[in-house]
Amino acid sequence: MAKVYVLTSGKGGVGKTTLTANLGTAMALGGERVALIDADIGLKNLDVVMGLENRIIYTLIDVANGKVNVFDALVRHKQIKNLSLLPASQIATKEMISPDDMKRIINEMKERFDYIFVDCPAGIERGFRNAVAGAEEALVITTPELPAITDADRVIGLLENMGFQDDKIHLIVNRFKAHMVRHGDMLNINDIKSALSIEVMGIVPDSEDIIISTNKGIPLVLEDGSSANMHKILNGIVRRLKGEEIPIPKLSELEDKKGFLEAIKSFFKRHQSGDD
Ligand SMILES: Nc1ncnc2c1ncn2[C@@H]1O[C@H](COP(=O)(O)OP(=O)(O)OP(=O)(O)O)[C@@H](O)[C@H]1O
Ligand SMILES: [Mg+2]
Repeated sequence: MAKVYVLTSGKGGVGKTTLTANLGTAMALGGERVALIDADIGLKNLDVVMGLENRIIYTLIDVANGKVNVFDALVRHKQIKNLSLLPASQIATKEMISPDDMKRIINEMKERFDYIFVDCPAGIERGFRNAVAGAEEALVITTPELPAITDADRVIGLLENMGFQDDKIHLIVNRFKAHMVRHGDMLNINDIKSALSIEVMGIVPDSEDIIISTNKGIPLVLEDGSSANMHKILNGIVRRLKGEEIPIPKLSELEDKKGFLEAIKSFFKRHQSGDD
C-alpha cells in the first residue's frame, strides 16, 4: 500500500512542483513504484516539468467524472517505467473535483504504488483541500523568506486542524543560500525551525541547475551532467522519506557548488558546442 505525501506551501512559487518532480523521480530511480498527481487544476505544470505534456490523453477530471478508470489516465514516464503521472486539466476548475473524489482516486491507486506524491496548488482554498484530502503525510515547502514562512505556518495550522499529527507534517526549506546565511543576510535553519516547530526533512539549495533542468522538462535528478551535490541532497531527502536516518547536511554541504572537475567538464562541453 502506497504512502501518500502532499507537497504544499500556502505561498506560491516556492518549489512544490519542482520538488514533486525531483523527489518522485529520485524515488522511482531507487526502484519504488511511484505516482505523481498534479492537483493544480487549471494551472497544471507538473507534466511540463516532467516532459510528459504531449502524452496526456485523460486527466484527473476525467477520472473524477467517471469517464475513465484512473489507471487509463496515468501517463507513464518515457524512461522510468515505474514512474507515472496523473495529470491535471488546464480547462477545468478546482470546483469540478471534490476532496471525496481525491480520496477515492488515491485509494484506488494505493495498491499499485509504493509512493504517491500530490503536487498541491498555492493557496488554502478548495484546491488545497482537494490536494490534501487523500494524503497521510505532508511536506510543507517554504523558502527562507518571511512571507513564505508565515504562509507555511498557516498551512501547518490548517493541516493540524484537519487531523494531521505533528509527526506527519515535515518541513522542506527550498532555495536555501548558504552564503547569505553565513553573512547574516538570510534566516538560518534554526530560526525557521523555531518559527514553525516542525521537524526538518530537508534543505535544498538555490540552484541554477534546477532552473536549467526545469526549462528542459527533465528533472535534475535524471541528468548526469548536473550538480552531484544536488543529486546527493535530493537523494538524502528521498532516503529520509523512506525512513532512513540520514543527517541533515551542514551549511558547508549546502552550497550549490559543482565539483572542480565537473565545472571544467561543463565548460569544455559548452565551449565545444559553441555556446560560449
Ligand atoms: N532550489 C531551487 N533553486 C532554484 N530555482 C528553483 C528551486 N526550486 C524551484 N525553483 C524555481 O522556482 C520557480 C517556482 O518553482 P515551482 O513552480 O516548483 O513552484 P510552485 O511552488 O510549484 O509554484 P506554484 O505555487 O505556482 O504552483 C521555478 O521557476 C523553479 O525553476
Ligand atoms: Mg506548482
